[in-house]
Amino acid sequence: MFRSLFRRRPLDHAHPGSEGHALHRTLSVRDLTFFGIAAIIGAGSFSSMGQACASGGPGVVLLFVLCAVACGFTALCYAEFAARVPSGGSAYTYAYVSFGELFAWIIGWALLMEYSIGNIYVAFSWSGYFTNLLDALGLHMPEWLTINYRSAHAAALAGTAGEGLTAWNTAPMAGGLRIILDLPAFAINALITWLVYTGVKESRNASNAMVVVKLAIIALVIAVGVGHIDITNWTPFMPHGFGGVMAGVSAVFFAYIGFDAVSTLAEESRDPQRDLPKGMMWSLVICTGVYIVLALVLTGMVPFDQLNVSDPLAEVFALKGVKWMLFIVSIAAVVAMTSVMLVFQLGQPRIWMSMSRDGLLPPHFASIHPKYKTPGFSTLVTGAVVGLPIFFTDETFILDFTSIGTLFAFVLVCGGVLMLPARTKEHGRFHLPYHNAKYIAPLLGLIALALIVLLDPNHFHRLLGRTGRDPNIPLLVFYALCAVLASFSFRRNWSLIPLLGLVSCCYLLTGMAPSNWKWFGIWLVVGLVLYFAYGWKHSRLAPKP
Ligand code: ALA
Repeated sequence: MFRSLFRRRPLDHAHPGSEGHALHRTLSVRDLTFFGIAAIIGAGSFSSMGQACASGGPGVVLLFVLCAVACGFTALCYAEFAARVPSGGSAYTYAYVSFGELFAWIIGWALLMEYSIGNIYVAFSWSGYFTNLLDALGLHMPEWLTINYRSAHAAALAGTAGEGLTAWNTAPMAGGLRIILDLPAFAINALITWLVYTGVKESRNASNAMVVVKLAIIALVIAVGVGHIDITNWTPFMPHGFGGVMAGVSAVFFAYIGFDAVSTLAEESRDPQRDLPKGMMWSLVICTGVYIVLALVLTGMVPFDQLNVSDPLAEVFALKGVKWMLFIVSIAAVVAMTSVMLVFQLGQPRIWMSMSRDGLLPPHFASIHPKYKTPGFSTLVTGAVVGLPIFFTDETFILDFTSIGTLFAFVLVCGGVLMLPARTKEHGRFHLPYHNAKYIAPLLGLIALALIVLLDPNHFHRLLGRTGRDPNIPLLVFYALCAVLASFSFRRNWSLIPLLGLVSCCYLLTGMAPSNWKWFGIWLVVGLVLYFAYGWKHSRLAPKP
């Protein structure tokens, strides 16, 4: 039994049953880059960036750089896997060939948080900007139709004036229950589900157009915003210290989620080995540049503590009295978030399709629609997984939950590359450069240690809880892990790039609150129960009776 949990899919494994049902191979590097940008720039820049700026101040740009570094290394690892395993399924497939079935299942389960649960946050943010837009056009929707129940309930308990309290006080009653729901969030999910269900080509065209619009408007936001920068707002750079910067980790990391969605389109791209890595890296580079400039503009325009709102890009222009920009920003936000939802809702069914072909999910999940050539059943289930929680969750919970699950998946991808056997270079294929970490890893560790002690002599006292505060368990575990990884690198000549990806993603995980870990743990347990109830028995790698 124990060994069967780690049975691995061979690297060159093809999916029987997929012949004759192949997806259309239509996507080029440009399309893939556009898909990447479509997935990356969305609610992270239009909503959660404000929260991160408010806790970290202008110093939040450091966190954007840190997340970009972690995602960059991870993207290279994704690229290495994509070059070896040119089939859809993303990190799930990669884990299957390197770590084995149980880890593959866990990663597939964690990716559900990135692809489906993350879309719930995007749908909520979409709804916020959409109702702004309607208001600007003189059309007001009642508050009880534009906010989720939990937020309205929390506002009523706290007694804070605003949309939530108004919704609570004005909601119609049915059977003793207040009817409060975020109707626009639900409607956009239904629309996206329909678009994805009817075909990747149509979705691609819609997505490309939306990327052009959102980049153009973000450029306008930056150009207009630069004229309103007051550089005194950039000091102090880190008003709440580095701890304040790290408190924004979920919000900032969320903004980067999406580059990996490109890898789920392997079966629809013309030359996956060559094009997927390029698509991922280009989209990541472009988005990183956009974020750093945008964060500097926002924190330069107004004092950082005024940015803790759900629509910071609109708020800064409202505070500066530039009313005409409010309308433009709301349109850009609606467009940007629509494209994010589109890409994720394209990605999720393709991961499930791979899992189903491997026998880990029921066969329905792999069925291809005869007319549209899309994974029809999986697409509809994705729509339900995003749509139903809209009725009973709220933004903050979803943001943290998505970020922890995605970081966890990235950790496994980077770790997976460390486990792969070396391969010979082939012309025209991506090849992850190998630098031996044998001496570099321990050396980097020692340099980092020296810098920490030099710049912050009390760091370890604080960490161990000797200054009256609680010990910082996640950071202590992280340092211990670094020591273990350095020793393995020394003994096994590990490759530097995946190692740095692993370390940087683990570092970002240290910023997660204990409550996030609790929910993530519960999520994992539910996933394991499902695996043993179905996947373990039905796996294509299970011995035939
Ligand atoms: N990165 C995506 C967004 O910000 C998930 O919406």
